[in-house]
Amino acid sequence: MLEQKRKRAFLTGISGQDGSYLAEFLLSKDYEVHGLIRKHSIFGTERIAHLYQDPHEPDVRLSLHYGDLNDGSNLTALLKEIQPDEVYHLGAQSHVKVSFLNPIYTVETDGLGTLRLLEAVRGLGNQPRYYQASSSEMYGLAAEVPQRESTSFHPCSPYACAKVFAFWQTVNYREAYALHASNGIMFNHESPRRGETFVTRKISRAATRIKLGLQERLYLGNLEPQRDWGFAGDYVEAMWLMLQQDEPDDYVIATGESHCVREFCELAFGLLDLDYKDFVVVDPRYFRPLEIDVLQGDASRARIKFGWTPKVSFKELVTMMIESDLELAKREKLLLEAGYASTVNSGY
Ligand code: NAP
Ligand code: GDD
Repeated sequence: MLEQKRKRAFLTGISGQDGSYLAEFLLSKDYEVHGLIRKHSIFGTERIAHLYQDPHEPDVRLSLHYGDLNDGSNLTALLKEIQPDEVYHLGAQSHVKVSFLNPIYTVETDGLGTLRLLEAVRGLGNQPRYYQASSSEMYGLAAEVPQRESTSFHPCSPYACAKVFAFWQTVNYREAYALHASNGIMFNHESPRRGETFVTRKISRAATRIKLGLQERLYLGNLEPQRDWGFAGDYVEAMWLMLQQDEPDDYVIATGESHCVREFCELAFGLLDLDYKDFVVVDPRYFRPLEIDVLQGDASRARIKFGWTPKVSFKELVTMMIESDLELAKREKLLLEAGYASTVNSGY
């Protein structure tokens, strides 16, 4: 009997929240996974440390490669060497507020970085299938709620403008070079692995630290914006499903439900028998020059085309994050009691 060749995937952003869940998912499907990582002064690979295999062992299925989206020659060389069947482009400067502070860098990385990768893909003999991590931020000041694939983009941050550029480059490479390239227009998705400067994780970390007496207050920006929050583990499956379709396309991935930041606080603190009003302080430092009031997606196309629906509810998501961060806070408290220094979140 002929043995089926193991599929090979190349991921940018493997050290990020989504990259870690996607790497886990692909390894569970017996893929060989190659991930792009940047050189840091510290490791920076904590989210995938549990997947790491010693490169000297036989049958290594996860390999990490140094590189950067701002270095096109390196991307080209890596893809030539790896010859992947599927490319998942998740790497980005992904923080909206930071994009107002570092607009040029953000557009270089998220906009031109995508084009560099697409060019590297185009240069391969056998073109791999390509996934672009597009964002609901592209809808910005949208004319309709919920937003779907046909809704016009009205980006309102440097990050969102760069993502619109990357979205259209992906469509362009699909149309011009017959590349199997799909955009996942993902609404906010969170998890215990979410970066600590995004609002959900900032809240779950602070609420649990406050519960254990490690912190007194939580300083936040605007509490009224509504977001459509899902679980990152559910969303990476949708990325993979897109690349298994015969034809490439663009898909909204969302829960269809939105909640405001205030509600997230209420639920998160409530799970710990605390009243968020006693601890949350609004600090204009965290306001953005332009805010998106409501993001809420309609993922009907993904449901109809390949049966994707979210599994984790809003309440289950908040509970999962609180439970995980409570354990983290307990460990932090033990370390503090043993004389080790604590970490402070002063990010945006
Ligand atoms: P994340 O946790 O911030 O991870 C971003 C990843 O990109 C990290 O691995 C980071 O590497 C890497 N990266 C940043 N700059 C890079 C550069 N110059 N060269 C190479 N790699 C670079 O983001 P995420 O939440 O997993 O999101 C994944 C992707 O989906 C992003 O493109 C994001 O914009 C998009 N997206 C996310 C959401 C969401 O709600 N999470 C929704 C829609 C779209 P380091 O670890 O070295 O920093
Ligand atoms: N980060 C942060 N920090 N946001 C705050 C804070 C705060 O202290 N206080 C209020 N917010 C509000 C923001 O103004 C925004 O309206 C909302 O909380 C969510 O902010 P983030 O969690 O930073 O996420 P985002 O919606 O701006 O962007 C995320 O989702 C996009 C998809 O819609 C990121 O993951 C993007 O990469 C992604 O594309």
